[in-house]
Amino acid sequence: MNRLLENKVIWITGASSGIGKALAIRLAKTNTVIATSRSQEKLEQLKREYPAIVIKQADVTKPAELASVCGFIEQIFGKLDVLLANAGHCEYLDVRHFDSSIALRMIETNYMGFVYAIESCLHLLRRSETPHIVAVSSSSVYLGLPRAEAYSASKAAVTQFMESLAADLTPEGFSLSVIHPGFVDTELTRQNDFPMPFLMQPDAAAQRIIQGLNRGQYNIDFPKGLTWILRCLRQTPHLIRHRITSSLSRNMQHEL
Ligand SMILES: NC(=O)c1ccc[n+]([C@@H]2O[C@H](COP(=O)([O-])OP(=O)(O)OC[C@H]3O[C@@H](n4cnc5c(N)ncnc54)[C@H](OP(=O)(O)O)[C@@H]3O)[C@@H](O)[C@H]2O)c1
Repeated sequence: MNRLLENKVIWITGASSGIGKALAIRLAKTNTVIATSRSQEKLEQLKREYPAIVIKQADVTKPAELASVCGFIEQIFGKLDVLLANAGHCEYLDVRHFDSSIALRMIETNYMGFVYAIESCLHLLRRSETPHIVAVSSSSVYLGLPRAEAYSASKAAVTQFMESLAADLTPEGFSLSVIHPGFVDTELTRQNDFPMPFLMQPDAAAQRIIQGLNRGQYNIDFPKGLTWILRCLRQTPHLIRHRITSSLSRNMQHEL
């Protein structure tokens, strides 16, 4: 069975911009790609630029819309080989004006949107000889960065969900992969008002993700320099770790 990303039917959520769009463009060269996002306008622009990409509008927080995309995939292709659950959004929390609705929105889009996408297409993945579920999490799960409480908690939920899902689906012949990107220059990070070390372009991120998937990697972390530092800091005693993250937080609040 060929597990390489060639001649596959691949569904990418959040494919209208940033990392998802770069993945769609690269993967459409050798696969059938179905690209989903909320913005019909952005999807049509993608279709004009890359006519081979199939576009289907859907909001990942709305299971009925995802079911409709899967109904279309079933009708046309009869199966799905790869779900690339990439749709996501980032909002920061300001503890001076604590607002739980931010945490709810992060969980709804980043975590429940990912869970709903799996639910909607699992039966189609089970018809593939090489079913693969790919989740785009974040390197923010490795360290408690300032203001990222809601965002990184939603991504940590994705990473942890995938751990148990791997235990349950690997015996059925599924492959699973979790991506933990560092900073990538996209609409999502353009709101950031702080320096972003090791910033990458979306196409370089897509290239790194595809390379990892073709190698059969479960954890795809990049860029290595940043994720290595975050993982090392994670291992340090909390007094040292929190002194470092608190100084980042003070600097940010000073700038606001
Ligand atoms: N950029 C980074 O530095 C970075 C780092 C770590 C992880 N990530 C993760 O990478 C993924 C892609 O982000 P990006 O950086 O490429 O940002 P982006 O350019 O803002 O792309 C986000 C994509 O998700 C879609 N989306 C957002 N909410 C959606 C919803 N409710 N339903 C369906 N689609 C939705 C957006 O399209 P519509 O608005 O049209 O729906 C867009 O296509 C996200 O999961 C993000 O958390 C990014």
